[in-house]
Parts: sequence; structure tokens; C-alpha cells
Amino acid sequence: MATAPFIPVCLADYERLALERLSEQTKAYLEGGAADEITLRENRAAFDRIRLSPRILPDLKGANTRLSLLGLDLPHPILVAPTAYHRLAHPEGERATAQGAGAMGAVMVVSTQASVAVEEIASLATAPLWFQLYMHPDRDVTQHLVQRAEDAGCGALVVTVDAPVSLRNREQRAGFRLPAGVDAVHLRGLPPLPTPASAAMGEVPVFTGALDALPGWDDLVWLRDVSRLPLLLKGILHPDDARRAVDLGMDGVIVSNHGGRVLDTVPAAINALPYVTEAVSGAVPVLLDGGIRRGTDILKALALGARAVLVGRPCLHGLAAAGAPGVAHVLHLLRAELEVAMALTGRTTLAQVDRSVLWPPAPDPA
Ligand code: FNR
Ligand code: LAC
Repeated sequence: MATAPFIPVCLADYERLALERLSEQTKAYLEGGAADEITLRENRAAFDRIRLSPRILPDLKGANTRLSLLGLDLPHPILVAPTAYHRLAHPEGERATAQGAGAMGAVMVVSTQASVAVEEIASLATAPLWFQLYMHPDRDVTQHLVQRAEDAGCGALVVTVDAPVSLRNREQRAGFRLPAGVDAVHLRGLPPLPTPASAAMGEVPVFTGALDALPGWDDLVWLRDVSRLPLLLKGILHPDDARRAVDLGMDGVIVSNHGGRVLDTVPAAINALPYVTEAVSGAVPVLLDGGIRRGTDILKALALGARAVLVGRPCLHGLAAAGAPGVAHVLHLLRAELEVAMALTGRTTLAQVDRSVLWPPAPDPA
């Protein structure tokens, strides 16, 4: 008797399919986190510890997952997080990701370290593109990247500020090197950027000058004036940093620990979120990434103040497993699960999702 084909029905299924297909080196790069990977695991564990409050017999007429975000009307609150080198996962790389995201109307954030040029991605994209920027100590280099993103039609800049350096033991052990034919195409011919890759191989100590010229807050002020695009700051956990970002005129903040890939033992993104939400107090949208694997995770993030979420590794799993349709299906599954979770907690719009979807219900029984 023939065995039934394996049909992925959730993100964990896509993870399994992807891990069967990828090389040990690539898996180490995509899946790994910093040091002991405590934060990597905590990003998941923290979601799993949160409990939801179900509501019965809801009136769900007109229910939808729409939102407006920085001038965009979006069908759902799920964005593709910026991740480097999609051609590690699939030969078509970011081209396929853009097509998959487009099919689901999801914003795709293109990494500075993309393996396909932003202009080419833009030529295939049918949903909005944003550009993730690593600032360079040399402002001319940064300005060049910003100009390219603007010219390609990107609608916002996501400035990643949490990862000037990192140590990832899984990558080190695997001896991760980019395979021939995969590179950061936007950085060709430019001086190297201070990104996690700089110290990924454990070429420490790092206090040898490499970090002396790191971009700082004053570079954000400069960037604010250089670009007409909305600026979101990605990689915020501390409420004081969130406040400072708002004071400097940033248009949004993204609560993130870079998928557990930078400083190990920092808290899960979902546990930092309430602090940041409170600090920002509605001044700008707060987004979150790290550990989103289920629609219920999205509901929990929205309950704690996120306007939208970004999804990193699962998109790469969909890409590795099935190219553009795999990316689209991953996003579809998350959206469908979010709708189920909203229905069963009695919410018809994202605006109705607040802390009251979480257990325990208030007030506590005496
Ligand atoms: C990343 N991330 C990332 N972030 C960024 O700003 N620029 C980048 O180039 C990359 N590259 C990158 C590569 C890989 C392989 C991973 C896994 C992650 C971080 C990413 O945007 C996001 O913060 C996390 O991936 C979110 O966590 P989950 O969804 O992977 O759990
Ligand atoms: C990473 C860098 C590229 O996380 O942001 O691998």
C-alpha cells in the first residue's frame, strides 16, 4: 500500500521538511542562536506559558484581521522578517520569498544581506516591501543603501540596532561558510558592515578596534533627515531605549532579540513587549518578532500591545520545503490559526484584541 504524501498542516511540519533538505552548515546558520541558545528556546517557551481566555457563543459577523500600519492597509498583521541569504534555503532565494509573501499580501522586509538585489525583488513583488538597514560607520555607505532601497520602491526602513557582534557556537562548530554563489549582493564592493557575521567565527577579542566606529544614536538623527521613509528601529527590548527611539522621531519600534541570535540570556521578546508597550504608550506602533509559530502566539503578542508581528525562520522553512508556495502556505497557516484563535476568544477585529484575551480573567476570585 502506498503511503500518503506528507502534507504540512502547521509550521512545525514545514520546519521538519526544511531540516530534511538543508545541509548541516546551512541548518546551523538558520536554526542557531547565540551561545547556549537559552534566549532562542525562551522565545518559544515564553509563548507556551501564556494561557488564553476562551469565550463562548461569540457573534462573529463581519470578523476580519485587517489593520492599517504606517499608511498601509494590510489584510493581516503578519510580516516577513528580514533574514539574510534566502538563496541558502532555495535557489530562487528572495525572488521566491517575495512571490510567496505577495500571494498572501504580506509585507516583506528585505535584508541588507539579501542574496538577491532589492531591485530584482521589487520587480516581482506584489505586496509592499520594506528595507532592513544595517548602518555603516561610513555614512556615505549607509546613504548609498538607503538610496537603493528608496529607488527600488521600499516603503519603510527597518534599522536593525541590536546586532553589532555575536557569537554563535552552532555555526562555529559547523564551520559555517557561505557556499559559492551565495553572497550579500547589496554589499558587493563596499567596506564590511558591523553585523553578526563579523565575529561569527569567534575571531575574538573584539575590542581591537573593530567596534570603535559603531553607528550610534546620532546616526539615527542623521538618517531621519537623509531619508523620507518611515523609520522603524528593530532590536529593542529595554523600555528606556524604546522611549529614546520615540523621542528621536522614529516611526515604529520592533521588539526583538534577533531570534535569540545575539546576546544570550536576554528575555524572550514576548516578555519584553509589555515594558516597551508601556514606555511607548501608543506614540508609535510597536511590532514584535521572535518565536512566532502559531496563530495563538500572534494573538498573545497583539494582546500585549503589538500591532503586528514578523516571522523569521518559518518563512525560510517554507522556502526550503516548497519555494514560493511554501512561503505563502506558512503565512496562510498563521493567518488561519489567528482567525481561529480570534473566533474562539470572541474577537471580530484586531482592535478588540487586548489583555482580556489572556487568562486569568479579571477580577481574580477571592
Ligand atoms: C535573521 N535576522 C536578521 N535580522 C535583521 O535585521 N537582518 C538580517 O539580515 C537578519 N538575518 C537573519 C538570518 C537568519 C538565518 C535568522 C534566523 C534571523 C533576525 C530576524 O529578522 C528576526 O528577528 C528573527 O528571525 C525572529 O525570530 P524567529 O521568527 O526566527 O523565531
Ligand atoms: C544574522 C544577521 C545577518 O542574524 O543579521 O545572521
